[in-house]
Amino acid sequence: MTQDELKKAVGWAALQYVQPGTLVGVGTGSTAAHFIDALATIKHQIEGAVSSSEASTAKLISLGIPVFDLNNVDALSVYVDGADEINPQMQMIKGGGAALTREKIIAAVAKTFVCIADASKEVDILGRFPLPVEVIPMARSYVARELVKLGGQPEYRQHVVTDNGNIILDVHNLRILDPVALETRINALPGVVTVGLFASRGADVALIGTAQGVKTLTR
Ligand code: 5RP
Repeated sequence: MTQDELKKAVGWAALQYVQPGTLVGVGTGSTAAHFIDALATIKHQIEGAVSSSEASTAKLISLGIPVFDLNNVDALSVYVDGADEINPQMQMIKGGGAALTREKIIAAVAKTFVCIADASKEVDILGRFPLPVEVIPMARSYVARELVKLGGQPEYRQHVVTDNGNIILDVHNLRILDPVALETRINALPGVVTVGLFASRGADVALIGTAQGVKTLTR
């Protein structure tokens, strides 16, 4: 199976976590896009979606799924999203698609975070994938110097402006042995909007696409 077929398999498998009559939190990226395609087949059974990016919002609307402002939503039963890396503790690196901040906000609201990923995203130790950090533009150089002090090599993601009007630094060469501590430390730097480490709030369920089928991991 191709990587995209594995992404499609987990995107459709995530439908089983959607409860009829509810609002669904929707992530961003190519795996989440498969989930949106699947969600469209049951759109008359759900109230609608809360979206983590302008790109996902456009796709949801094009398929006739109503999109709600999170400020008008009290609770979300489920959030479904992809990941760039996931470890056995179900902590993740996210933000390859630059949507990490909105993703983290929706993940915080949702009762259950379902991570959908192909098997290439599984790692024992997070950090092989460069860690995205969303930064207020004027703080770019300061934050980059601080990230170097933490042992990383930040690289400015050229020509990318997030949906929130900020920039992304991708931090290379990290071997993240204590994801919760690093998440807390980077988030505390002035100018950092969000780090793409989803450690203190990891996934509750992971659906991993393998050649043998969809593997389900739970906490
Ligand atoms: C976007 C993300 C995505 O979930 C992550 O980059 C995975 O993307 P894909 O499903 O295309 O492999 O965090 O900000």
